Amino acid sequence: MEKIANVKDIKRGGSLTFDYKGRTAIFVRTKEDELAAYVAICPHAGGNIEWDEQINKLLCETHLSLFNVKDGSVYKHSSTFELDKGLTKIELKVDQDQNIYAL
Ligand code: FES
Repeated sequence: MEKIANVKDIKRGGSLTFDYKGRTAIFVRTKEDELAAYVAICPHAGGNIEWDEQINKLLCETHLSLFNVKDGSVYKHSSTFELDKGLTKIELKVDQDQNIYAL
């Protein structure tokens, strides 16, 4: 179990990247105070995944596909390719002191 951060260190609508088992991952705290984390590698062609607070979606920098923060599923992708596989979700645990761990 790897500690990512403490809830109070990340504002609502914020995100941070962290190392998860040797891969870059992204943690998001939504404006609605939901917590989620995903491997930050796009399932299409390996593009880097960023959090776009304005539209409340995860964004692939390479081809600008969008993913739902709730479950990592594909929200929108380019019409030039198929993308039916979403992001790889990382399970989280929050302890009584609000420390967040990646399982
Ligand atoms: S690499 Fe992410 S949509 Fe193509």
